[in-house]
Amino acid sequence: MPCDPSKLRLYYNEFPQPPPKRVLDAARKSVSRANRYPPSELAALLKELMAKYAGVSAENVHAASGGEYVFYELFSRAVRPGDLVFLLEPTFSSYEPILRALGCTIEKVPLIEKGDMWSLELDSLIDMIRRKKPKLLVVDDPNNPTGSPVLRTRENVGRLLSSFDGYLLLDEAYTEYAGYSSASLVSEVKNLVVFRTMSKAFAMAGMRVSFLLAPSGLIKNVEGFSPRFELSRASMAAAVEALRDPSYALKNAEYVILERERLYGKLLRLNGVKPYKSSTNFIMMKFLRGMPKLPLTLMIPQFAPGFARLSIGTRGDDDCAVRALADALVQDHAYKASPVKGESE
Ligand SMILES: Cc1ncc(COP(=O)(O)O)c(C=O)c1O
Repeated sequence: MPCDPSKLRLYYNEFPQPPPKRVLDAARKSVSRANRYPPSELAALLKELMAKYAGVSAENVHAASGGEYVFYELFSRAVRPGDLVFLLEPTFSSYEPILRALGCTIEKVPLIEKGDMWSLELDSLIDMIRRKKPKLLVVDDPNNPTGSPVLRTRENVGRLLSSFDGYLLLDEAYTEYAGYSSASLVSEVKNLVVFRTMSKAFAMAGMRVSFLLAPSGLIKNVEGFSPRFELSRASMAAAVEALRDPSYALKNAEYVILERERLYGKLLRLNGVKPYKSSTNFIMMKFLRGMPKLPLTLMIPQFAPGFARLSIGTRGDDDCAVRALADALVQDHAYKASPVKGESE
């Protein structure tokens, strides 16, 4: 297989293949009615299917376009200028600019590197929350960019929720790859909001469909402010068809989980590279002697020097990426021309 690393696209954590034909056909068919606004029955059906998929009621769902817009919708309802917000460090890069634009004060809660993962000190976070009483805490679980699970269990989420009156936004963008979710808690508590997206295991990043799960009062509040036709007819039609039979997303997740193990093993063999275990569709790694020169479409530098993140692609993509990495390491004198452990040095 020819390998041209500049052609790889492994930096956005997308799924490497399109969704099934029936999903694409539904989108295509809907476009023939492009002159008409999206029908409200389609919007209602989409909410019902999202609710069923997440194990909640339709009154707990807000169907929306991509994460950044939904975060803006939520934050502008949940916080005011000057409010204190806790974010993990590192975390998904989209929250902070929106919160800063809304005039919030941000405090960072560090994840700590522990062996091949990163973790949150839950007891010290609860302590901090009790003392400082933030209005909002955002936790991407699993975390981007580390790929590590953060709270993982309903018990941990419950403990956090009972420690304060503010909102917890739990971003479960990678839930299918992680195999856990606390979404069902939204009907039992008043301060939990869960974010889900169809951009990852559903392979629909280009359609921009995501959803919020929250107590019904908050959903009403957000929807009172959101645009009437937030999602296009084609996006809704595709999402409805995808959710009618979501089994393909679970198969996609199975593929990613297996391929993640294989890629992790290959990265582990590269000299001077430390990959971290992942519960997502990407692997973060640390270059122990600095970042070698690599195409930016392959991986983008992360929160601190020497860290980069690589999405899981097709097996061919991943093999090509590892080869490109090994080549870049050979050319970088800091790695002493020994890309694979045990081969020279
Ligand atoms: C933690 C996290 N949340 C949200 C998103 C964005 O989701 P969407 O494609 O729905 O905007 C991403 C995308 O990479 C992500 O990593």
